[in-house]
Amino acid sequence: MSSSTMRDALLEAARALTPHSETPRLDAELLLARAMGLTRAALLARLSDPLEDSGILQQFERMLRRRQAREPVAYILESVDFYGLTFRVRPPVLIPRPETELLVSAALEYLEQFRPEQPRLLDLCTGSGCVLLAVKRHHRRCECVGVDISPAAVSLAQENAKRLRLKVTLLTGNLFDPPQLRDFAPFHVIVANPPYVALEEWSGLAPDIRLYEDPGALLGGPDGTDILRQIVRAAPDWLTSGGMLAVEMGEDQHGAVREMAEVAGFTDIRLLPDLAGTLRVLTARRP
Ligand SMILES: C[S@@+](CC[C@H](N)C(=O)[O-])C[C@H]1O[C@@H](n2cnc3c(N)ncnc32)[C@H](O)[C@@H]1O
Repeated sequence: MSSSTMRDALLEAARALTPHSETPRLDAELLLARAMGLTRAALLARLSDPLEDSGILQQFERMLRRRQAREPVAYILESVDFYGLTFRVRPPVLIPRPETELLVSAALEYLEQFRPEQPRLLDLCTGSGCVLLAVKRHHRRCECVGVDISPAAVSLAQENAKRLRLKVTLLTGNLFDPPQLRDFAPFHVIVANPPYVALEEWSGLAPDIRLYEDPGALLGGPDGTDILRQIVRAAPDWLTSGGMLAVEMGEDQHGAVREMAEVAGFTDIRLLPDLAGTLRVLTARRP
Protein backbone atom coordinates (compact mmCIF):
# COMPACT_ATOMS: atom_id res chain seq x y z
CA MET A 1 0.00 0.00 0.00
CA SER A 2 1.42 3.34 -1.05
CA SER A 3 -1.07 5.71 0.59
CA SER A 4 -0.07 9.16 1.77
CA THR A 5 -3.15 10.14 3.80
CA MET A 6 -5.78 8.24 5.74
CA ARG A 7 -8.29 9.16 3.02
CA ASP A 8 -6.08 7.61 0.31
CA ALA A 9 -5.51 4.49 2.41
CA LEU A 10 -9.26 4.04 2.90
CA LEU A 11 -9.99 4.53 -0.80
CA GLU A 12 -7.34 2.01 -1.76
CA ALA A 13 -8.48 -0.50 0.86
CA ALA A 14 -12.18 -0.15 -0.02
CA ARG A 15 -11.31 -0.84 -3.66
CA ALA A 16 -9.33 -3.93 -2.67
CA LEU A 17 -12.21 -5.21 -0.52
CA THR A 18 -15.00 -4.56 -3.02
CA PRO A 19 -14.97 -8.07 -4.57
CA HIS A 20 -14.93 -9.69 -1.10
CA SER A 21 -17.35 -7.65 1.00
CA GLU A 22 -20.76 -6.04 0.78
CA THR A 23 -19.56 -3.16 2.97
CA PRO A 24 -16.01 -2.47 1.75
CA ARG A 25 -15.74 1.15 2.88
CA LEU A 26 -17.15 0.49 6.36
CA ASP A 27 -14.87 -2.55 6.79
CA ALA A 28 -11.85 -0.51 5.72
CA GLU A 29 -12.73 2.24 8.21
CA LEU A 30 -13.16 -0.21 11.09
CA LEU A 31 -9.91 -2.01 10.32
CA LEU A 32 -7.84 1.15 9.84
CA ALA A 33 -9.31 2.64 13.03
CA ARG A 34 -8.17 -0.49 14.90
CA ALA A 35 -4.68 -0.37 13.34
CA MET A 36 -4.45 3.29 14.38
CA GLY A 37 -5.81 2.63 17.89
CA LEU A 38 -8.62 5.14 17.20
CA THR A 39 -12.39 4.99 17.26
CA ARG A 40 -14.01 5.10 13.84
CA ALA A 41 -15.35 8.59 14.58
CA ALA A 42 -11.86 9.83 15.49
CA LEU A 43 -10.45 8.29 12.32
CA LEU A 44 -13.08 10.05 10.19
CA ALA A 45 -12.13 13.37 11.77
CA ARG A 46 -8.52 12.90 10.64
CA LEU A 47 -8.86 11.83 7.03
CA SER A 48 -6.38 14.40 5.76
CA ASP A 49 -3.64 13.33 8.20
CA PRO A 50 -0.61 11.61 6.68
CA LEU A 51 -0.34 7.84 7.07
CA GLU A 52 3.31 6.97 6.92
CA ASP A 53 3.91 4.71 9.91
CA SER A 54 5.04 1.45 8.31
CA GLY A 55 4.05 -0.60 11.37
CA ILE A 56 0.45 0.66 11.16
CA LEU A 57 0.36 0.14 7.40
CA GLN A 58 1.61 -3.44 7.74
CA GLN A 59 -0.94 -4.22 10.42
CA PHE A 60 -3.71 -2.71 8.25
CA GLU A 61 -2.57 -4.76 5.26
CA ARG A 62 -2.58 -7.97 7.32
CA MET A 63 -6.15 -7.26 8.42
CA LEU A 64 -7.22 -6.47 4.85
CA ARG A 65 -5.83 -9.80 3.66
CA ARG A 66 -7.89 -11.61 6.29
CA ARG A 67 -11.01 -9.74 5.19
CA GLN A 68 -10.22 -10.57 1.56
CA ALA A 69 -10.28 -14.22 2.65
CA ARG A 70 -13.85 -13.45 3.85
CA GLU A 71 -13.08 -13.53 7.57
CA PRO A 72 -15.77 -11.42 9.30
CA VAL A 73 -14.62 -8.02 10.59
CA ALA A 74 -15.80 -8.92 14.10
CA TYR A 75 -13.40 -11.90 14.21
CA ILE A 76 -10.53 -9.78 12.91
CA LEU A 77 -11.24 -7.13 15.54
CA GLU A 78 -12.06 -9.82 18.12
CA SER A 79 -14.98 -7.73 19.31
CA VAL A 80 -18.50 -6.67 18.44
CA ASP A 81 -21.03 -4.26 19.91
CA PHE A 82 -24.36 -5.64 21.03
CA TYR A 83 -27.06 -3.85 23.01
CA GLY A 84 -24.60 -1.08 23.90
CA LEU A 85 -21.96 -3.47 25.28
CA THR A 86 -18.74 -4.66 23.71
CA PHE A 87 -18.32 -8.45 23.52
CA ARG A 88 -15.20 -10.45 22.82
CA VAL A 89 -15.73 -12.84 19.87
CA ARG A 90 -13.57 -15.48 18.22
CA PRO A 91 -14.17 -18.28 15.75
CA PRO A 92 -16.11 -20.50 15.70
CA VAL A 93 -18.48 -18.99 18.30
CA LEU A 94 -21.35 -17.18 16.58
CA ILE A 95 -20.97 -13.41 16.19
CA PRO A 96 -23.96 -11.70 17.86
CA ARG A 97 -26.37 -10.26 15.28
CA PRO A 98 -28.31 -6.99 15.68
CA GLU A 99 -31.71 -8.70 15.34
CA THR A 100 -30.99 -10.76 18.46
CA GLU A 101 -31.25 -7.55 20.50
CA LEU A 102 -35.03 -8.13 20.21
CA LEU A 103 -34.68 -11.03 22.68
CA VAL A 104 -33.01 -8.72 25.19
CA SER A 105 -35.72 -6.04 24.86
CA ALA A 106 -38.48 -8.65 25.21
CA ALA A 107 -36.89 -10.07 28.37
CA LEU A 108 -36.30 -6.63 29.91
CA GLU A 109 -39.84 -5.48 29.12
CA TYR A 110 -41.26 -8.57 30.79
CA LEU A 111 -39.08 -8.17 33.88
CA GLU A 112 -39.99 -4.49 34.16
CA GLN A 113 -43.70 -5.08 33.68
CA PHE A 114 -44.13 -8.03 36.03
CA ARG A 115 -41.33 -7.28 38.51
CA PRO A 116 -40.91 -10.77 39.99
CA GLU A 117 -39.44 -10.67 43.48
CA GLN A 118 -36.47 -12.91 42.73
CA PRO A 119 -36.27 -12.87 38.94
CA ARG A 120 -34.59 -15.80 37.22
CA LEU A 121 -33.77 -16.02 33.52
CA LEU A 122 -32.48 -18.92 31.44
CA ASP A 123 -30.64 -18.28 28.15
CA LEU A 124 -30.49 -21.47 26.10
CA CYS A 125 -27.87 -21.61 23.33
CA THR A 126 -26.04 -18.72 24.96
CA GLY A 127 -23.02 -18.62 22.57
CA SER A 128 -20.87 -15.59 23.47
CA GLY A 129 -23.32 -14.86 26.32
CA CYS A 130 -24.54 -11.68 24.61
CA VAL A 131 -28.25 -12.02 25.44
CA LEU A 132 -27.73 -13.20 28.99
CA LEU A 133 -25.15 -10.54 29.81
CA ALA A 134 -27.09 -7.69 28.21
CA VAL A 135 -30.13 -8.60 30.34
CA LYS A 136 -27.98 -8.90 33.47
CA ARG A 137 -26.36 -5.51 32.78
CA HIS A 138 -29.78 -3.81 32.72
CA HIS A 139 -31.49 -5.89 35.39
CA ARG A 140 -28.87 -6.60 38.04
CA ARG A 141 -31.27 -8.34 40.43
CA CYS A 142 -32.02 -11.04 37.86
CA GLU A 143 -30.32 -14.37 38.45
CA CYS A 144 -29.16 -15.35 34.97
CA VAL A 145 -28.20 -18.85 33.79
CA GLY A 146 -26.82 -19.63 30.33
CA VAL A 147 -26.42 -23.05 28.69
CA ASP A 148 -24.53 -24.01 25.56
CA ILE A 149 -23.50 -27.36 24.15
CA SER A 150 -20.17 -25.99 22.90
CA PRO A 151 -17.35 -25.75 25.47
CA ALA A 152 -15.73 -23.03 23.30
CA ALA A 153 -18.90 -20.94 23.55
CA VAL A 154 -19.21 -21.42 27.31
CA SER A 155 -15.60 -20.45 27.81
CA LEU A 156 -16.07 -17.28 25.70
CA ALA A 157 -19.27 -16.40 27.58
CA GLN A 158 -17.34 -16.79 30.84
CA GLU A 159 -14.65 -14.49 29.53
CA ASN A 160 -17.28 -11.90 28.51
CA ALA A 161 -18.97 -12.11 31.92
CA LYS A 162 -15.63 -11.48 33.60
CA ARG A 163 -14.70 -8.57 31.34
CA LEU A 164 -18.11 -6.95 31.87
CA ARG A 165 -17.96 -7.75 35.62
CA LEU A 166 -21.34 -9.47 35.57
CA LYS A 167 -22.10 -12.44 37.79
CA VAL A 168 -24.00 -15.14 35.91
CA THR A 169 -24.01 -18.96 35.86
CA LEU A 170 -22.82 -20.71 32.71
CA LEU A 171 -23.33 -24.43 32.11
CA THR A 172 -22.17 -26.74 29.34
CA GLY A 173 -24.78 -29.14 28.02
CA ASN A 174 -27.64 -29.98 25.72
CA LEU A 175 -30.55 -27.53 26.25
CA PHE A 176 -32.28 -28.40 29.57
CA ASP A 177 -29.99 -31.39 30.34
CA PRO A 178 -27.34 -29.95 32.72
CA PRO A 179 -28.23 -31.48 36.12
CA GLN A 180 -27.54 -28.21 38.01
CA LEU A 181 -30.25 -26.43 36.02
CA ARG A 182 -33.02 -27.74 38.31
CA ASP A 183 -31.48 -25.82 41.23
CA PHE A 184 -32.41 -22.53 39.51
CA ALA A 185 -35.87 -23.46 38.17
CA PRO A 186 -38.55 -22.37 37.69
CA PHE A 187 -37.56 -19.43 35.50
CA HIS A 188 -39.59 -16.27 34.94
CA VAL A 189 -38.07 -15.89 31.48
CA ILE A 190 -36.49 -18.35 29.05
CA VAL A 191 -34.79 -16.82 26.01
CA ALA A 192 -33.15 -18.71 23.16
CA ASN A 193 -31.51 -17.96 19.86
CA PRO A 194 -31.01 -21.57 18.74
CA PRO A 195 -29.55 -22.83 15.47
CA TYR A 196 -32.41 -22.47 12.96
CA VAL A 197 -30.90 -22.66 9.46
CA ALA A 198 -32.33 -25.47 7.31
CA LEU A 199 -29.77 -28.00 6.01
CA GLU A 200 -30.45 -27.18 2.39
CA GLU A 201 -29.82 -23.47 3.01
CA TRP A 202 -26.24 -24.08 4.17
CA SER A 203 -24.58 -23.93 0.75
CA GLY A 204 -26.37 -20.62 0.02
CA LEU A 205 -24.96 -18.85 3.08
CA ALA A 206 -22.27 -16.22 2.61
CA PRO A 207 -18.71 -17.60 2.77
CA ASP A 208 -18.09 -15.22 5.69
CA ILE A 209 -20.52 -17.39 7.68
CA ARG A 210 -19.83 -20.83 6.18
CA LEU A 211 -16.07 -20.65 6.41
CA TYR A 212 -15.76 -19.19 9.92
CA GLU A 213 -18.82 -19.77 12.11
CA ASP A 214 -19.67 -23.07 13.80
CA PRO A 215 -22.21 -25.09 11.75
CA GLY A 216 -23.44 -26.37 15.13
CA ALA A 217 -24.45 -22.80 15.97
CA LEU A 218 -26.45 -22.41 12.78
CA LEU A 219 -27.95 -25.68 11.52
CA GLY A 220 -31.27 -26.74 13.01
CA GLY A 221 -32.05 -29.95 11.08
CA PRO A 222 -33.82 -30.57 7.76
CA ASP A 223 -36.17 -27.55 7.97
CA GLY A 224 -34.23 -25.66 10.66
CA THR A 225 -36.80 -26.11 13.43
CA ASP A 226 -35.48 -29.23 15.26
CA ILE A 227 -34.01 -27.37 18.22
CA LEU A 228 -36.77 -24.74 18.33
CA ARG A 229 -39.26 -27.61 18.65
CA GLN A 230 -37.36 -29.23 21.53
CA ILE A 231 -37.18 -25.89 23.37
CA VAL A 232 -40.85 -24.94 22.90
CA ARG A 233 -42.03 -28.41 23.95
CA ALA A 234 -39.96 -28.57 27.12
CA ALA A 235 -40.14 -24.92 28.22
CA PRO A 236 -43.50 -25.04 30.08
CA ASP A 237 -41.96 -27.45 32.62
CA TRP A 238 -39.24 -24.92 33.39
CA LEU A 239 -41.27 -21.71 33.56
CA THR A 240 -43.19 -20.12 36.42
CA SER A 241 -46.92 -19.74 35.93
CA GLY A 242 -47.19 -16.58 33.79
CA GLY A 243 -43.51 -16.93 32.81
CA MET A 244 -42.38 -15.97 29.32
CA LEU A 245 -40.60 -17.84 26.56
CA ALA A 246 -38.90 -15.74 23.86
CA VAL A 247 -37.28 -17.49 20.90
CA GLU A 248 -35.58 -16.19 17.79
CA MET A 249 -36.32 -17.95 14.50
CA GLY A 250 -35.65 -17.81 10.78
CA GLU A 251 -37.65 -16.16 8.01
CA ASP A 252 -40.79 -18.15 7.23
CA GLN A 253 -40.61 -20.20 10.45
CA HIS A 254 -43.12 -18.11 12.43
CA GLY A 255 -46.14 -20.21 11.35
CA ALA A 256 -44.50 -23.46 12.45
CA VAL A 257 -43.17 -22.01 15.71
CA ARG A 258 -46.51 -20.40 16.60
CA GLU A 259 -48.16 -23.79 16.12
CA MET A 260 -45.54 -25.44 18.37
CA ALA A 261 -46.28 -22.83 21.05
CA GLU A 262 -50.05 -23.38 20.79
CA VAL A 263 -49.63 -27.16 21.02
CA ALA A 264 -47.39 -26.73 24.09
CA GLY A 265 -50.23 -24.79 25.77
CA PHE A 266 -48.72 -21.29 25.65
CA THR A 267 -50.98 -18.22 25.59
CA ASP A 268 -50.49 -14.54 24.73
CA ILE A 269 -48.40 -15.54 21.70
CA ARG A 270 -46.78 -12.59 19.92
CA LEU A 271 -44.53 -12.25 16.90
CA LEU A 272 -42.02 -9.41 16.87
CA PRO A 273 -40.53 -8.04 13.64
CA ASP A 274 -36.86 -7.14 13.27
CA LEU A 275 -35.74 -3.90 11.59
CA ALA A 276 -36.11 -5.50 8.15
CA GLY A 277 -39.76 -6.35 8.96
CA THR A 278 -39.12 -10.13 9.25
CA LEU A 279 -41.09 -11.80 12.05
CA ARG A 280 -38.01 -12.80 14.00
CA VAL A 281 -38.96 -13.44 17.63
CA LEU A 282 -41.90 -15.25 19.18
CA THR A 283 -42.88 -14.50 22.77
CA ALA A 284 -45.44 -16.58 24.65
CA ARG A 285 -46.62 -16.98 28.25
CA ARG A 286 -47.15 -20.12 30.26
CA PRO A 287 -50.72 -19.99 31.67
C1 LIG B 1 -27.40 -19.12 16.85
S1 LIG B 1 -26.16 -19.39 18.08
C2 LIG B 1 -26.66 -18.16 19.27
C3 LIG B 1 -25.56 -17.67 20.16
C4 LIG B 1 -25.94 -16.44 20.98
N1 LIG B 1 -27.07 -16.70 21.85
C5 LIG B 1 -26.25 -15.27 20.07
O1 LIG B 1 -27.42 -14.92 19.95
O2 LIG B 1 -25.32 -14.71 19.48
C6 LIG B 1 -26.67 -20.91 18.72
C7 LIG B 1 -25.86 -21.48 19.87
O3 LIG B 1 -26.52 -22.68 20.28
C8 LIG B 1 -25.58 -23.63 20.66
N2 LIG B 1 -26.23 -24.95 20.59
C9 LIG B 1 -26.48 -25.70 19.49
N3 LIG B 1 -27.14 -26.80 19.83
C10 LIG B 1 -27.33 -26.76 21.17
C11 LIG B 1 -27.95 -27.63 22.11
N4 LIG B 1 -28.53 -28.77 21.72
N5 LIG B 1 -27.94 -27.29 23.42
C12 LIG B 1 -27.35 -26.13 23.82
N6 LIG B 1 -26.74 -25.27 22.97
C13 LIG B 1 -26.74 -25.57 21.66
C14 LIG B 1 -24.42 -23.41 19.72
O4 LIG B 1 -23.21 -23.92 20.25
C15 LIG B 1 -24.44 -21.89 19.57
O5 LIG B 1 -23.57 -21.29 20.48
